[in-house]
Amino acid sequence: MVSERTEVQVRPGVEEDLDALTDIYNHYVRETPITFDTAAFTPEERRPWLLSHPEDGPHRLMVATDADTQEILGYATSSPYRAKAAYDTSVEVTVYVAPHASRRGIGTLLYKALFEALADEDLHRAYAGIAQPNEASTRLHERFGFRYVGTYREVGRKFGRYWDVAWYEKQL
Ligand SMILES: CC(C)(COP(=O)(O)OP(=O)(O)OC[C@H]1O[C@@H](n2cnc3c(N)ncnc32)[C@H](O)[C@@H]1OP(=O)(O)O)[C@@H](O)C(=O)NCCC(=O)NCCS
Repeated sequence: MVSERTEVQVRPGVEEDLDALTDIYNHYVRETPITFDTAAFTPEERRPWLLSHPEDGPHRLMVATDADTQEILGYATSSPYRAKAAYDTSVEVTVYVAPHASRRGIGTLLYKALFEALADEDLHRAYAGIAQPNEASTRLHERFGFRYVGTYREVGRKFGRYWDVAWYEKQL
């Protein structure tokens, strides 16, 4: 368990983080409808994702670590919203905290670091798609100024049923 006194540091993600980041993501792939990936990844399958988030530019990966043990506790990314060029000023953001480390302010620290890192980039909008229901994610995004845009109803099927995704938008 990560205690409230655990000191958490946030830094850009690097290739050495690949195994731990894959483990965190796979937990949510296997256990929840939060992500619409349905099959767990090997770290090698996940490497292109990591390499597409370098230490500069609009598409970033920020990683939270326990300052004492260096254990990875979570991560946040900004990624292309869509491939067509006029969308280049928009990013889709997401954040995943290890289940044993949730509700300790780590999601907040990750988004703070991510949006600070993006402040000097040529970006205009951030979007987040939140599979419903997800109170923790909704509260985190609202805390960072995201506004509800609308809901795609039953846009994905996982675990044998359909799920809604609520879209949120933030001005950058
Ligand atoms: C969503 C998530 C990143 C939040 O990270 P966190 O470190 O737990 O969040 P924080 O401790 O910084 O708290 C942020 C807000 O979420 C709320 N929150 C956190 N966990 C909660 C929970 N289980 N239930 C209700 N609210 C919760 C906090 O109260 C806080 O709200 P406030 O700003 O109104 O006080 C984390 O719960 C998580 O990784 N969830 C699974 C993955 C996920 O849903 N990612 C988002 C995909 S869109």
